[in-house]
Amino acid sequence: MKTELSSLAPASFETEMLVVFAINKADKKDKKADPQIELLTPDDAVTSAAAKAVSGREFAAGSCETLLLHQPAGLKAARLLIVGVAKPTMAELRKAAGAAVRFAKPRSIRSLALLLPTATDFPAINTARAAIEGAVVADYDSDTYRSDRKDRSVETVTLLTPGGAAESAYKSGLNEGVIIAESQNFARVLINEPGNVLTPTEFGRRAAAMAKENGLACEVHSTDKLKELKMGAFLGVAQGSAEPPALIVLRYEPADAPKDGPVLGLVGKGITFDTGGISIKPADNMEKMKYDMAGGAAMIAAMRAIAQLKPKVRVVAVICSTENMPGGKAYRPGDVLTAMSGKTIEIINTDAEGRLVLADGLHYAQQLGATHLINAATLTGAVAVALGQINGGVFSNNDDEYAHFTRAIEQSGERFWRLPIEDEYREQIVSQIGDIKNTGGRYGGAVTAAMFLKEFVGETPWLHLDIAALAWNDDAKPWIASGPTGIGVRSITEWVRSYA
Ligand code: BES
Ligand code: MN
Ligand code: ZN
Repeated sequence: MKTELSSLAPASFETEMLVVFAINKADKKDKKADPQIELLTPDDAVTSAAAKAVSGREFAAGSCETLLLHQPAGLKAARLLIVGVAKPTMAELRKAAGAAVRFAKPRSIRSLALLLPTATDFPAINTARAAIEGAVVADYDSDTYRSDRKDRSVETVTLLTPGGAAESAYKSGLNEGVIIAESQNFARVLINEPGNVLTPTEFGRRAAAMAKENGLACEVHSTDKLKELKMGAFLGVAQGSAEPPALIVLRYEPADAPKDGPVLGLVGKGITFDTGGISIKPADNMEKMKYDMAGGAAMIAAMRAIAQLKPKVRVVAVICSTENMPGGKAYRPGDVLTAMSGKTIEIINTDAEGRLVLADGLHYAQQLGATHLINAATLTGAVAVALGQINGGVFSNNDDEYAHFTRAIEQSGERFWRLPIEDEYREQIVSQIGDIKNTGGRYGGAVTAAMFLKEFVGETPWLHLDIAALAWNDDAKPWIASGPTGIGVRSITEWVRSYA
């Protein structure tokens, strides 16, 4: 998709579809009140072209609600699309811009121009960034292998700005937004790949190719190296699969990063297919378990964004990738594994495999010099029970670290809700035969999984993102296709930038 800025007057801009955002100013408490539509632009030509259409009750400017006008009077555009925003926020603008692109796609409208809102209090850089992020993310569809696939991608999105002194801020917002959203889509492509295509080895190849294109250092190791590093937990999961595991290490080391500054460690769960192993999962929905590498994909994609945005901070990413399969060589319930850190783990359920590969990944990232850790994983079904499909779970052993993360999500617009890390929960994972066990019983499953990970981070400030409920959209939304979401990429990237 081509993206550009223009400060031409909206009326004289030639496009297949001009998009203007609108808000309902009617008193929300008065349910009977007629909508009072206000366009988020001071432009008189657009306002008068839309005036009649928004004067009645036909359009209430609800979130992502659309109204299309053909041949709008006084405008060069062939169409005028009015898109509602429920509140004047960046998150709403991002969604509304996405809704415009998703409106255009099935109708084969290939170019559109978004009239950036100026009536809100937000800085230019933010409006440009949010709008283009929404547009680029909306252009993705997951129908990769359909023979009748018609590529209806939008070819050009233009952001119409008022020009003047803020133009360079708009330009930076556009550039950043494109990098971040294209990285998010890169994650989605990886996540969407089926398990027979994206094996751990192939995952490693894709990461290496991305690294080469973006000037990152990359190493991909397999079984021998895991044995050398004594990654007993990761190896335990991997031993049941005919596909070799991949330990993917990516490094970003800019020359201008302070020598004694932090090293950020990004750790991802990369289970390319999770059958559950010997504790096998039920058949219903098992096909979805190809997305069990979404945390790893988020880290690889965040590294892509980081390589292009060039923050002055060192970053190392560790992605632990394997299948989780049953079979004659598979690990069993009752087995005791020795993790790289030396801790012994009693296996209660072979389906709690994510925390095992992450245990070794988190330990290794610290060995590689990480002073601050963030991990992302489709770790538990329990997080979906706790938070539904609106917020991801975030856990931290450190309040300052969590504060950093809250600033990151304010920028990214992704939603995460903090869940507890408290010593009392540890009792649930104490083992009789070894140090800890890999499941914590019926209650608080997302928390006990996080408590397990905490065993491997020591005193290092650490964030754990449980994205199991958000990594896959079963149903399309007005602003995003069904399928992989790429959740985490934007927040992780933003978190890294907050250290530069
Ligand atoms: N990959 C799953 C978690 C998951 C479930 C992700 C649904 C996405 C959607 C994870 O490996 C798993 O199986 N977790 C178990 C843990 C249990 C055995 C303690 C779970 O959540 O049921
Ligand atoms: Mn599992
Ligand atoms: Zn899993």
